[in-house]
Amino acid sequence: MAVDLSLSWLGLEMESPLYNASGVMCRLREELDAVAASAAGALITKSCTLEAREGNPEPRYFSTPMGSINSMGLPNQGYPYYFQYAAEYDYSTGKPLFVSLSGMSLQDNLTMLQALDDLQLPCLPEVNLSCPNVPGKPQLGYDFAATAAALCAISRVYARPFGVKLPPYFDVAHFTQMAEVLNACENLRFVTCINSIGNGLVVDMDSESAVIKPKGGLGGLGGAYVLPTALANVREFSRLLDHKYVIGCGGIDSGAEAFMHILCGATAVQIGTCLHEEGVGAFSRIQSELSDIMEAKGYHALTDFRGKLKTL
Ligand code: SIN
Repeated sequence: MAVDLSLSWLGLEMESPLYNASGVMCRLREELDAVAASAAGALITKSCTLEAREGNPEPRYFSTPMGSINSMGLPNQGYPYYFQYAAEYDYSTGKPLFVSLSGMSLQDNLTMLQALDDLQLPCLPEVNLSCPNVPGKPQLGYDFAATAAALCAISRVYARPFGVKLPPYFDVAHFTQMAEVLNACENLRFVTCINSIGNGLVVDMDSESAVIKPKGGLGGLGGAYVLPTALANVREFSRLLDHKYVIGCGGIDSGAEAFMHILCGATAVQIGTCLHEEGVGAFSRIQSELSDIMEAKGYHALTDFRGKLKTL
């Protein structure tokens, strides 16, 4: 039986549900080109700001057997670089392009969205409401009223479909409250769950030290550490959101975790820590593992099992 990994959503056609998480292999044009040339089904740029940023002092990324911790601090080339990439991108390759935005203020996000709207490109913005790594800047996604106000303001300047990247939530009341905020915004069409679990601390036993320099060692956790939290967020937002797509991100290391995210309701899935460690070969490996799992289970298409998690 031939397995079909293709999907169609928001008018986009993708051959595979896998693509990079913003932050990994997407800061420079060459990295984006490598993702585009790989087995990934789409690509997304690094979260950008108005001005280019160096980011936080190094070391700012560390991997462990259970995942990663990072406090990159939004190093990026500034939004004109990524918009230029989007303007020159060959959309006929059939790999949709997403542009991630993470302004230092709401006004910065509005300025970038207005500029993107002016270009009328076929790429889609993912507005990052959840970077945990800019000292002194809390994650907007944890402030429900500010998120509601931001979505209203965004809709006023950007009337086309857009998405947001959410932080992980940990309380049922918070899933419900955030879903109400998101449901109130009509042209918000997708949410990416989850950004890293913010402000974790990894300690090295030998040196008795934190492993990254910024913020006294605090940073966002990714990889296997975050899989159950990511699945819960994908599952709950898939249930609670009306006519919106959920993109899964967090802890995907093989076809099994990609399958779990889709079973919990993810339309497509982003790969972060694993891509950082393995490079673009991760896409073809995970894709073939996902195909094997589907074949063994007798599933032909992603729609055969998407969102069909059983509960006891
Ligand atoms: C970073 O650049 O610090 C990571 C971005 C994010 O987690 O949103």
